[in-house]
Amino acid sequence: MKFGHFDDSRKEYVINTPKTPYPWINYLGNQGFFSLISNTAGGYSFYKDARLRRITRYRYNNVPLDMGGRYFYINDNGTVWNPGWSPVKTELDEYECRHGMGYTIIEGKKNGLKAEVTFFVPQDYDGEVQQVVLTNESSEAKEFALFSMAEWCLWDAQDDCTNFQRNFSTGRVEIEGSTIYHVTEYRDRRNHYAFYTVNDQIDGYDTDRDAFLGSIYNGWDNPETVKAGKASNSFADGWSPIASHYKKITLAPGESKTLIYILGYAENPQDKKFASEKPADLLTREAWVLNKEKAYAMIDKYNTPEKVAAGLEELRTTWENLLSIYKVDTPDDKVNRMVNIWNQYQCMVTFNLSRSASYFESGIGRGMGFRDSNQDILGFVHQIPDRARARLIDIASTQLSDGGCYHQYQPLTKKGNADIGGDFSDDPLWMIMSVAAYIKETGDWGILDANVPFDDDPEGKHTMLEHLNVSFYHIVNNLGPHGLPLAMRADWNDCINLSCFSDTPGESFQTYTNPKFKAEGGYSKIAESVFVAALFTYTGPAYVGILEHLGKTEEAAKAQAEIDKMKKNTMESAFDGEWFLRAYDANGEKMGSHECEEGKIFIEPQGFAVMSEIGKDVGADIKTLDSIDKYLNCEYGLVLNNPAFTKYYIQYGEISTYPGGYKENAGIFTHNNAWIICAEAYVGRGEKAFEYYSKIAPAFTEETSDIHKTEPYVYGQMIGGKDAKNFGQGKNSWLTGTAAWNMVAISQYILGIKPEFDGLRVDPSIPSAWDGFKVVRKFRGDTYEIEIKNPDHICKGVKKLTVDGNEIEGCIVPVAGDGNTHKVEVLLG
Ligand code: GLC
Ligand code: GLC
Repeated sequence: MKFGHFDDSRKEYVINTPKTPYPWINYLGNQGFFSLISNTAGGYSFYKDARLRRITRYRYNNVPLDMGGRYFYINDNGTVWNPGWSPVKTELDEYECRHGMGYTIIEGKKNGLKAEVTFFVPQDYDGEVQQVVLTNESSEAKEFALFSMAEWCLWDAQDDCTNFQRNFSTGRVEIEGSTIYHVTEYRDRRNHYAFYTVNDQIDGYDTDRDAFLGSIYNGWDNPETVKAGKASNSFADGWSPIASHYKKITLAPGESKTLIYILGYAENPQDKKFASEKPADLLTREAWVLNKEKAYAMIDKYNTPEKVAAGLEELRTTWENLLSIYKVDTPDDKVNRMVNIWNQYQCMVTFNLSRSASYFESGIGRGMGFRDSNQDILGFVHQIPDRARARLIDIASTQLSDGGCYHQYQPLTKKGNADIGGDFSDDPLWMIMSVAAYIKETGDWGILDANVPFDDDPEGKHTMLEHLNVSFYHIVNNLGPHGLPLAMRADWNDCINLSCFSDTPGESFQTYTNPKFKAEGGYSKIAESVFVAALFTYTGPAYVGILEHLGKTEEAAKAQAEIDKMKKNTMESAFDGEWFLRAYDANGEKMGSHECEEGKIFIEPQGFAVMSEIGKDVGADIKTLDSIDKYLNCEYGLVLNNPAFTKYYIQYGEISTYPGGYKENAGIFTHNNAWIICAEAYVGRGEKAFEYYSKIAPAFTEETSDIHKTEPYVYGQMIGGKDAKNFGQGKNSWLTGTAAWNMVAISQYILGIKPEFDGLRVDPSIPSAWDGFKVVRKFRGDTYEIEIKNPDHICKGVKKLTVDGNEIEGCIVPVAGDGNTHKVEVLLG
């Protein structure tokens, strides 16, 4: 069952009922000011940091679920309704929500009155613009009242939802003309404020929530001022400040009126915090007055429909440009839709927000993840390489000089997060992978010489190359009894905690290590990760390639020898016969073996081991992939492990705390499905690669939206696996490494257009039924128009490749570097 449809020409998803199985959201903004907005206009805004600069309030795990946001209410002769249906939930005559690239349009119609609201955050602008167009489509004149509403958060979202004894007494506002300013704590220790304005005279306002609602027993669905058709002109003093504008409107039949609201954020320099004079119409009870110059300038920028149209056009062009870098035309519309629009869009969002703020991430938990942010770059780097470069330097600067890494860092301070600490065994390798991806995309070898400090040597002169070096050797220097990498506190799977042995409620599996490992340096020196071994052999060659390019042949050979040794150790000690083991636990026992009672096979190491060709000579690659198909494949994707754990295994940690089928315990953890898609494509089984791709790609799950629940236009972290009661149900949508990895899987492995150090590889691995496809790829300043023909209907194998008519050896298109358009013709066979 569907709840809307894709409108590819406008790059929108069109939702035609407010009652989606879960709030279906969109993100506005991509630099400083961000908003989350659901299909009923729920959500919230923040500036840069979802925890420390929360602008509007939102209550997670609320009942009903998605309550609070920015709402418009209409009282039309006693009928009270919202254009987005919620919170009043008056049945609408018509409803539509269009989520587009950085904007959302919500339209409602009731009794002949139509309200269309466009929400967006313009480029380089710290505010959300909301354009409301009201049209009287009836044959009689209409007189009605329009109310806006936004509830302020008292800046620190964590404090805001815990520290009530203080916060109920600190709220402050100023009101001037049609603008309501939120100035809590501004007088003393803050230099930032927010405002909510409308480009017209208002007939009243409310700034105190309880006054707006009329009673502490009312909810957002029942505000008394709106019902009464008149604001109460309340002035907030403590409690919960809000901003609501009240406007009386009369429309003749056929007449329209446009109002522009702006929810903005501004910071003042310390010595310019206060205005010198108090304007005549200012409402405040303070002795000081906010300096509003910045707000005035921001308001002036979008106070007419023409300016709003220009802002929207600028946003549209920005996205057209971003999406023109990789454009595909395949026989499958759903693939085109994912690659050309939604997957790339999601990659931008995950790059911006890491795992901080979604409808499943509260914005007050995690900072930027070391491994997460590095992987996000894989899907984003072609869009704005300069931002990727800056991010790489930020991330690398939180690394320690021995190659260890802080697992997370705070975006505002850019400092490693001491609460969570380090010793996640996989972290350093993602750094090599992302820097290599950046160089392959841009050819900017200069990044290796960039001055990048270590967290424990902030003043020291160090280069990015040194960071890669210590990353590589951090693995080599921390091997266990089988010569495999120590698992430490966890590897990619945060929930395999082999040094934890936790039996006390509340202990964090990520931060707790059992005291018995203290003497050993904090983690078991026995437990080893086969996943990290495979990731090392897959990623290591990029480091070797870099050294070779720099002419450091000896170092390259030394590193290559380590990779070869790791492959040998993995084959000797970690091949289980039909697939690779997952780990050796702290007791030296196998994890993920046919000998185990539960959790016999795990997905994570397999794809990287296959792509590293470990044991290829004895068929280990195909055996492994066949085992995945046999044990992990199900209707909605590949589960993480099988059979699911049904007991608590203290030696494994968090993984066995989840009910079977959810999250890391045999959920369909879509992130790692991509690694198998890549591996199937790598070995040339394009059919299988595509089968797995289409099981989880959102556009393909649209038809089962009632089962899948979350947005059909973006990936979620997890889908309930075959052991789950809610098999097929998606969760944790939007912020997940799945976005980047599936972009890699489809664009670089299945469609096979893959940046390399010395050019653009073209080596597809597709369903044999395809006659071919076309790709336009902008790469290092040139444009490549690539046409792939598949007359023999095979999956993989380049028979002939020509660039501008000249045949070349192999399948790497050399960099032309002349800024021109080049025709690449590829014949499979
Ligand atoms: C979450 C984390 C990611 C981790 C994964 C598996 O998605 O953000 O870092 O690798 O879970 O545990
Ligand atoms: C939990 C989740 C995992 C996530 C981690 C982040 O362990 O299961 O997916 O990566 O928390 O701290």
